[in-house]
Amino acid sequence: MEDRPVPTSVGGPGFRTFWALRRDPLAFFTDVARKTDLADIQVGPRRFLLVSHPEDIAAILITQHKKFIKGRGLQFTRPVLGNGLLTSEGEFWQRQRRLAQPAFHRDRLASYARDMVRVGEALAEEWRAGGVRDVARDTTRLALAIAGKTLFNVEVGPLADQVHADLGTLMRYTNRRIRAFVPLPTWLPTPASRRFRHALSRLDAVIYDIIRQREATGKTAGDVLDRLMAATDEAGGHMSHAQLRDEVMTLFLAGHETTANGLAWTFYLIAQHPEVQERLHQEWEEVLHGRSPDPGTVERLPYTQAVIQEGLRLYPPAWMMARQAVAPFTLRGYEFPAGTQVVMSQWVMHRHPRYHPEPERFWPDRWLDRSYPPGPGLTYFPFGAGPRLCIGRPFALLEMALLLPILGQVAWLSPWPKPPVVPEPLITLRPKYGLSLRLEPLPARADPRTVAEALP
Ligand code: HEM
Repeated sequence: MEDRPVPTSVGGPGFRTFWALRRDPLAFFTDVARKTDLADIQVGPRRFLLVSHPEDIAAILITQHKKFIKGRGLQFTRPVLGNGLLTSEGEFWQRQRRLAQPAFHRDRLASYARDMVRVGEALAEEWRAGGVRDVARDTTRLALAIAGKTLFNVEVGPLADQVHADLGTLMRYTNRRIRAFVPLPTWLPTPASRRFRHALSRLDAVIYDIIRQREATGKTAGDVLDRLMAATDEAGGHMSHAQLRDEVMTLFLAGHETTANGLAWTFYLIAQHPEVQERLHQEWEEVLHGRSPDPGTVERLPYTQAVIQEGLRLYPPAWMMARQAVAPFTLRGYEFPAGTQVVMSQWVMHRHPRYHPEPERFWPDRWLDRSYPPGPGLTYFPFGAGPRLCIGRPFALLEMALLLPILGQVAWLSPWPKPPVVPEPLITLRPKYGLSLRLEPLPARADPRTVAEALP
């Protein structure tokens, strides 16, 4: 590989690469990355650099981060996310990040954990009945309820399905525009843009409702919304409604969609690997004795943590990230101009055979070795890295570590053939047709047989 010209040119101005990328982005990026670490890809009228070397990725996200802003594709999410934490830049972003950061401190997380457990236990009651369930739908309802309650102190329960469907519409439409040969403006009255605008106005209504309710009651809840509403700028002014809407929308969407998918994919992998499921049950039996965990006990569940890391490796909910250079930059001696669009893919790197032994195998034990993931550079970055590292990382990891045992303890999971489980790489990696699994209720365990033996 090292003797290839760097970067290697891929594609051209015509439709061939355009269709290949559009048809199956995961396969396209994987294919290119296995041939070269630095690919200068031309897709129709656009060019970008696919960077697939761990040290180059670390250079972009960490050591040379000042030379980059978020990628061009993210502009297309602006109608939805506005100028919130995920999309904003520079000093404004820094200020907003500082404002929101305390909401994710350790002591706050401990108080969120109570709501995470309560919401999880309610779903576990439903799981006790067994049957075939769309686990992705379940985890979405769960994560949405948790994000609503912990971050904004609202109960979103009855709205969950609508929010999930609307979010799907928004992501599909946004994705189509990102990948279009020539993106059409959102105001053009096509059926797709009409669906998009309807979904967006419904979601906006939910968000403005959250803000108005808080204003109306005047009560403080000590949550992130309080912090945002109380914040003042140098002139003593408060954040405008529009800015509040952008921050709340960003946290609300980023805070549930990724975690929900991460959990759903992890349950999917567990269902396919009874030996892993058995070991999880052993760990839960020894540490939890049928009870729900708390933030203290999750530290004593190393195998559970390993399963979560491995799930995020194989099915990273954020499957790619993009940056745009605002200054010239250098990667391993090669200089690139300002304006270069850069793409890095977690899906590609997490399954790269050069860095991960048996990359396609679901093998949580690899994480029990303290030197994993291998370096140098970024071979594993489900939450990004550098100053723009996911603010919700500790929140998401805690939520997953609490919910996996709470739900996993009540039922034995096995695969279900219909509908097929197909990853759909939108802005997040979602199961395209849902994720149905078979749940067999488990008796409370006072019996020495393995879980598999005890099944009827
Ligand atoms: C498994 C769950 C999650 C995954 C895989 C994930 C992934 C990511 C990634 C990769 C980024 C960096 C994007 C970039 O640099 O371009 C990011 C940023 C962000 N995430 Fe997460 N995230 C998760 C959960 C959460 C949660 C629970 C929240 C909030 C409660 C959240 C809020 C955010 C925000 C606000 C940003 C932007 C931070 C900034 O730029 O300052 N995420 N996330």
